[in-house]
Amino acid sequence: MTYVLPADPGDQIELTEYLAHLDAHLDVRDEDSVLATAPKLRALANNRRFLAKHLVESLAKSDFQKGNRYVGPTFLLERRRDYVVRVVGWPTAPERTPSDRTVDAYSADEQMAHNHTMGILTVGYWGPGYETDLFECDPDALTGEAGQPYQLAGRGRERLSVGKVMYYRPHVDVHIQNVPEDYSISLNLLIPSRHKDHYSSQYFFDVARGKVVGVGTTVADAERSEFLNYAGIIRHPSFFPHLEKIAAGHPRALVRKKASEILRAGPDLSRA
Ligand SMILES: [Fe+2]
Repeated sequence: MTYVLPADPGDQIELTEYLAHLDAHLDVRDEDSVLATAPKLRALANNRRFLAKHLVESLAKSDFQKGNRYVGPTFLLERRRDYVVRVVGWPTAPERTPSDRTVDAYSADEQMAHNHTMGILTVGYWGPGYETDLFECDPDALTGEAGQPYQLAGRGRERLSVGKVMYYRPHVDVHIQNVPEDYSISLNLLIPSRHKDHYSSQYFFDVARGKVVGVGTTVADAERSEFLNYAGIIRHPSFFPHLEKIAAGHPRALVRKKASEILRAGPDLSRA
């Protein structure tokens, strides 16, 4: 069940205090430790001035938002080795984003049920907040292939209103992010998943039809596929026992598929 901490306007802290708290207490390998920092994220959201202050300080530097690779209305407050703190804007569709990008913040992906490959501790900071339909999946039951029949378990609906903290567990928690009634802003603490490889894809689900409709491609998938492309060009007979093993048992569906394609093409006997 997605963790929810209700709003409480009591404490207020500055961004520097929040980051110092994370550095002192956050153990990203321990979910309880992540959740224990939730009251501090709420206290940061209770500070109605910190974001404007951060914007002013950032604008005074010529390299503001250096290293921000997000294309939507998302900016970085801090990037550390094992966590990221972000601000995410949620415009009302079909309005354009504040940066006047044509990027649609609500791509089909957002409004389709999806899980995340990271843990996300998030708090409402501004506006009414988006409403989200919550579900749960069993990552061990997912095969990595689009089209797999899969019925998600429904877990109700929440609104990320100002001061409310929610935690989306990596892989397990699934949600549909609905467009808010008015421009909304949330703050996120992103925690990398401890699971590598097998779990590393993001999944997209069609709730009504009960199936997986999309599986994200990871960098690791792409690198292995490229490697297999070389094997597929050369197709030396000595590759094939290994390719059979990969096609039968590799944890990544894309890699299995690639190996199967080479097996179907068969060895290039001129190279034997
Ligand atoms: Fe999401």
